[in-house]
Amino acid sequence: MTTSPYEHHDYDVLIIGAGGAGLRAAIEAKQRGLTVGIVTKSLLGKAHTVMAEGGMAAAMGNVSEEDNWMVHFRDTMRGGKFLNNYRMAELHAKESPERVWELEQWGALFDRTKDGKILQRDFGGHRYARLAHVGDRTGLELIRTLQQKVVSMGTDVFMECKVLKLVHDSDGRVAGCVAYWRPTGEIVTFSAKAVIIATGGVGKSWKFTSNSWEGTGDGHAMALWAGAKLIDMECIQFHPTGMVWPLSVRGLLVTEGVRGDGGVLRNSEGQRFMFNYVADMFRAETAESEEEGDRWYDDHAAGRRPPELLPRDEVARAINTEVKAGRGTPHGGVYLDIATRRSAEFIRRRLPSMYHQFMELAGVDITRESMEIGPTCHYIMGGVQVDADSAATSVPGLFAAGEAAGGLHGANRLGGNSLSDLVVFGRRAGMGAADYVESGQGARSFEMGEVEGAVREALAPFERTSGENPYDIQRDLQEMMQANVGIIRTGSELEEAKVKLEEFVERVKNIAVKGGRAYNPGWNLATDLPSMLTVSRCTALAASLRKESRGGHTREDFPKADPEFAKFNFALSSDGGNWDSPVSAAQSALLAMPDDLKALLEEAK
Ligand code: FUM
Repeated sequence: MTTSPYEHHDYDVLIIGAGGAGLRAAIEAKQRGLTVGIVTKSLLGKAHTVMAEGGMAAAMGNVSEEDNWMVHFRDTMRGGKFLNNYRMAELHAKESPERVWELEQWGALFDRTKDGKILQRDFGGHRYARLAHVGDRTGLELIRTLQQKVVSMGTDVFMECKVLKLVHDSDGRVAGCVAYWRPTGEIVTFSAKAVIIATGGVGKSWKFTSNSWEGTGDGHAMALWAGAKLIDMECIQFHPTGMVWPLSVRGLLVTEGVRGDGGVLRNSEGQRFMFNYVADMFRAETAESEEEGDRWYDDHAAGRRPPELLPRDEVARAINTEVKAGRGTPHGGVYLDIATRRSAEFIRRRLPSMYHQFMELAGVDITRESMEIGPTCHYIMGGVQVDADSAATSVPGLFAAGEAAGGLHGANRLGGNSLSDLVVFGRRAGMGAADYVESGQGARSFEMGEVEGAVREALAPFERTSGENPYDIQRDLQEMMQANVGIIRTGSELEEAKVKLEEFVERVKNIAVKGGRAYNPGWNLATDLPSMLTVSRCTALAASLRKESRGGHTREDFPKADPEFAKFNFALSSDGGNWDSPVSAAQSALLAMPDDLKALLEEAK
């Protein structure tokens, strides 16, 4: 079917991305007897999945018997400020427990309750202790388990292989992709009947982020260029607790598990300021005094939850306000203190990575001292618009799951809902792709013209003898996105961002790189920048259009939520399919929710 002049591989299902969603999708498609290839620009086992440290949300009721999928559904919708795809939230809440037990069967070693069940911890916005965890290394355990399963099934994994662009067949179905090997710079093509995007997030476009170098939005961008729509791209999660010091590690995640296990936030005046920031929506269940909050730690039935366990968007905004008001720490954060409430033995046992992270990187002993923390860009709620049940996009043959897909989390994700998202919808993407392949609708040709266009564009920086350094562009982009499209936004800053982003597009067209193609980090970055710019343009555009504040999108000039904006998502499309093509936005109505689910939300209000 395909005559490619390059190294070429052919699969039934090709998965781009080897985090939790990609690996879980591979297992599903493989179990259906299909041929499966996984392509990752990084190494197997190294994905942002590991940065979901504190746990995986699933209403198993092991610690709080009252918990069930309906409360989890309600919490997810409320945390997402009702912008969620309700069907995704429903499937996620119903299927997460099964996915946790399945991981356990495959070898994941969760922490246990005294009577031997999987232990669950508290996290922000979850009504009950709901997060199955492995100390503060849950994402790592999830990846380790899935990776072992994938390898044991004999799945082909292409590591250090950077995908440039998706390729269609002559009828517009997705038919595979074109990529290059990072170690050699040689081009490689993949054809497939179905492609699953599971590439994770976009955080590297911001200056302070928990994301590693891989988080450049490749999958979001590729899907958009291929004809799919992106939704909720304005909704960016700034995790409240990233390290602020030393500067070299600014943004590194401090797990929400610290607050879940008893950590409290104080400003430079020693005040537990979160009591001043309780929104009406959460007032009834939030403690009004330190004494009441403290009682809850000792006996969950005896008091209301401390305000440190409000959803992330609320906590991050409060920290930002305290720092701006001059009540921050010397390095521009606030204090997170667990040493006052918990013993050194408890902290080392429950939060071993945090203990080592602060000791080794900052010289701070968290069993005795407070941590200095502040918001860090952690996650994008927005992503490829998909059908909830099958993870299919609007482009035949293209599927998306995990952080690269939009809808489940609405305007704000609850901590712990990411790991369960990965396995619930990774599995569904694998099923959706397998159904599609088995139905015989898969791609029938492979457009080599698209391959050659992408290769020409990727190699162009070698042709220029002078031009821009990609690292200068990356630095300027990150600074601009942090300043103009950060945690608090204004219309004028967003308009300025849109203009500057068009200037960045021109600068990227003028990049020059030196040296050969083998392990050339400057060139590698030059091939990431088109994706970074695409997602940044999408975020700035949607943020300028959403003239209200909701979840991870806060407008200083429109500080309140506007019910009219709760009726639709902004769906973005590419007008041309190239990385520099214009992006346009249209309103996409939210799915109408059935009455029985609506009733669950009414009870929650
Ligand atoms: O704070 C954390 O451990 C992160 C969890 C998540 O993003 O779900």
